[in-house]
Amino acid sequence: MRIGVFCSGGDAPGMNACVRAAVRAASKQGHEVVGILRGYEGLLNEEFYIDFDGKKHLTPYRVATWAAHGGAHLRSSRSDRFRTLEGQMHAAEVLRKHSFDALIPIGGDGTFNGAVALAKQWEGQIVGCPGTIDNDLLGTDYTIGFSTAVQTAVEAVDKIRDTASSHDRMFLVEVMGRHSGYIALYTALASGADIVAIPETDTNFPEIVSCLNRLKSSGQTMAIMVIAEGDEKGGAAEIDEHLKEHDCPFQTRTVVLGHLQRGGVPTPEDRRRATQMGAGAVAAIIAGMSGVMVGTQDDQCVLTKFEETFKSHRPVSLELLKVVNEMDS
Ligand code: F6P
Repeated sequence: MRIGVFCSGGDAPGMNACVRAAVRAASKQGHEVVGILRGYEGLLNEEFYIDFDGKKHLTPYRVATWAAHGGAHLRSSRSDRFRTLEGQMHAAEVLRKHSFDALIPIGGDGTFNGAVALAKQWEGQIVGCPGTIDNDLLGTDYTIGFSTAVQTAVEAVDKIRDTASSHDRMFLVEVMGRHSGYIALYTALASGADIVAIPETDTNFPEIVSCLNRLKSSGQTMAIMVIAEGDEKGGAAEIDEHLKEHDCPFQTRTVVLGHLQRGGVPTPEDRRRATQMGAGAVAAIIAGMSGVMVGTQDDQCVLTKFEETFKSHRPVSLELLKVVNEMDS
């Protein structure tokens, strides 16, 4: 079997570990894995990974060290051309021309949306792995990259707290997550932030300011608020304005962590899940499956139809929310 693997959408730490696992699992069973560069865009352009020695497939040796590497060695992209029917039909032609039997796309909701469209034009098997720092897909406990993104954000907040404390200031730290509050919630809990603002809950300024006043009168001289970029009241800059209008008792500064969260050495958790999912994708292909994502739930591989993975907003844990809210007093 000839299996194509690619990374698509925002890169996520652990994607390389996933590619490595797919290559090793497939090679062991006598199948060939070809790396498609730059996601759907690279597929349209017929861009494939070619090794230094000219090999047109990924060897177990080539990917030997990839589990420890951040970024996406196969590169990634968001392709406007592939969003069109013409682009999808062209991608199917390219897959036929190069004799692919199956594909493993690693990405998030946009990637799987694309896989659903491609499946209408192409007869091969498609089994995806969830690669996005946002952790916003249904059908898996965690997505590849989420753990590392939270670790990076927590390390950043720890550093910011030092300067917040030296200057008796409040810092508003904006984290990524697109429409999801997962990164913000986990970062707030792990970093010991005072307040969190996420799109899943109403961000209420009078309540936040009264909480800050309470913290100040109890003797706290600094504060940390973690804000999800997708909060319904805006990012750190907008929320800072609102807090000022509501007489925030602290002098404030804002920090946007941005793409910093997408880089770095993947955590052991991300590498482990990525390895399990990459191997799981190959097993699913060999078993004849298609149109599904391999997630993990309670450390077991679980297959979910692509359409189900993004059909609704993935809710955050109410219990975790309750805990973070109990920390503001
Ligand atoms: O989906 C991953 C993500 O990092 C989101 O958290 C963020 O909103 C978006 O990608 C940023 O995308 P880009 O890299 O295209 O600016």
